[in-house]
Amino acid sequence: MQIWFHPAREIQVKAGEIARKTFGEGFDASVRAADPRFADFQINGALPYAKAAKSNPRQIAQKFLDALGASGEFDNSLVEISIAGPGFLNFKLTPLFLREWLAKYKGADSLKDAAKSFVNGKKIVIDFPSPNTAKQMHVGHLRPMVIGEAIQRLLRFCGADMTCDNHIGDWGTNFGILIYGIKSQNYHLDASNPSALEDLEQLYKTGSAKAKESPEAADAARDELVKLQNGDPENTALWREIIKVSQVSFDKTYARMGITIDVTLGESFYRDKVERIYNELSEIGLAEENQGALVVFLKDHERFKTQPFIIRKKDGASNYASTDLATVLYRVEHFGAQEIIYVTDGRQQDHFQQLFLTVGKWFDAKGYRKPELRHVWFGTILGEDGKAIKTKSGEPVRLKALLDEAVARALKIVQAKTPDMPESEAMNIAETVGVAALRYADLSQNRTSDYTFSWDKMLAFDGNTAPYLLYAVARIHSIFRKLNLSPDDNFEKDAAALETPQEIELARKLIALPNVFDLTLSELRPHHLCGYLYELAGTFSTFYNANKVIVDDPATQNKRLMLCARALAFMETGLRLLGIEPLKKM
Ligand code: ARG
Repeated sequence: MQIWFHPAREIQVKAGEIARKTFGEGFDASVRAADPRFADFQINGALPYAKAAKSNPRQIAQKFLDALGASGEFDNSLVEISIAGPGFLNFKLTPLFLREWLAKYKGADSLKDAAKSFVNGKKIVIDFPSPNTAKQMHVGHLRPMVIGEAIQRLLRFCGADMTCDNHIGDWGTNFGILIYGIKSQNYHLDASNPSALEDLEQLYKTGSAKAKESPEAADAARDELVKLQNGDPENTALWREIIKVSQVSFDKTYARMGITIDVTLGESFYRDKVERIYNELSEIGLAEENQGALVVFLKDHERFKTQPFIIRKKDGASNYASTDLATVLYRVEHFGAQEIIYVTDGRQQDHFQQLFLTVGKWFDAKGYRKPELRHVWFGTILGEDGKAIKTKSGEPVRLKALLDEAVARALKIVQAKTPDMPESEAMNIAETVGVAALRYADLSQNRTSDYTFSWDKMLAFDGNTAPYLLYAVARIHSIFRKLNLSPDDNFEKDAAALETPQEIELARKLIALPNVFDLTLSELRPHHLCGYLYELAGTFSTFYNANKVIVDDPATQNKRLMLCARALAFMETGLRLLGIEPLKKM
């Protein structure tokens, strides 16, 4: 028997096969977690099977146990199988299995190698953070960035062939007002000017206020838009510069937040690709003219049979929906996407439901290969007053201001903890801790819930926070530093058997990582990984407080050092997957 990376899954496959051979299809061999006092996993299928077959569940369980034994798939020095209660089958991984597992899966490289079968080369396009241009990033952009990045890192780690496609909002009626604003104020737009994006926001505000007041200004803005739409060179150049200004500013934030974007194909990229959408959807009878617009009614949907999905506006212009339809097709045809993941806030749920249903019908009718489509949506960040977080003047808080404040607050804490640390080192640590605190506070919440923003909570050194985890990691590093050893040393070579309850509990927690990957991937909810890292840190601390690492017996010492090294490597790997670069010292 091998040392399985993902024991629950292997037991499921192997025992499932044996159950089928022994009892036929009627036996439910699903593996569940068992009461940890007695075992790791449990199969309960003997009870319902016996009931249906009007026989004795313990006898059925015994028959199953015998078949498992006879199969030769389970080596009882590695996994003990026994019958419990009225006929449950318990599977318990032995301390030998745990030690061998820890010897085999040392850290990021071996974990990644083993985990790549989870997604196995699937071509996935992930769409985030996809901000709208001509505006500075604000607090609303935090969630798509941190959630999207964590998901894409985990998927990459687990073997997906990822492309991050940043679907920026770079086309729309607002450009008429922007261009009108620039021209009427004689503003010289230049992407190398650091305040250019702020200026654009201001120009937009005054421009749109004017357009509301005066019909002439409104007409002028509309003319600029029409000129842009018709390819007027001057307006096209201005539009390009506006995008560039936005891009320069976005890129700074992406770099600071460790966001990896592979391609940026914004809404404007699909301008010449929407005609095909109108044609195909009309041709198959999915889209119809309605009050001058082209719309899709999803006849078999309770709500969407009357709530239209507008794919071409009355004035003939394309919109968010038509662009998104063209985008799905492009991602399938050009990138070979088998799955597309969209990361946006929950208010766009209707849009994506209508999009996905429409794509389903359209692709079926045309015989196109359908990708899996997933909307990963998230809730709102609330202020202390329970409303969406805003500045005092009612504006959304700028993301840069938020990041700067997080870092400034972290710096104060770091300097208070270690007053004699050189300033530059403290600043570096504060940048990591501050940004990580903000990020982790977000990721550790179930993404579909709203959460209340609190500086004190996210920066606390206890509880499920980034500072707590970063500190736990730095502390394990210091154990190795003090001993003049490296966590990469080969402690497993002469490691004694795992023995104490704390050693066993820590080992169990460590080997649960594949389950956590599984769960996090199936729901695309990073808070599962956060919760695991927090528990791991706690289990490690219990172990470390109860079991001396430096002892006379070298085999015992090696075993404990191995446990320290694995706890460290797993925590570091987990943090990196969340987008947090751990520190060696704090
Ligand atoms: N730009 C949009 C917004 O700010 C998000 C785009 C999401 N992606 C998409 N393909 N619709 O709300």
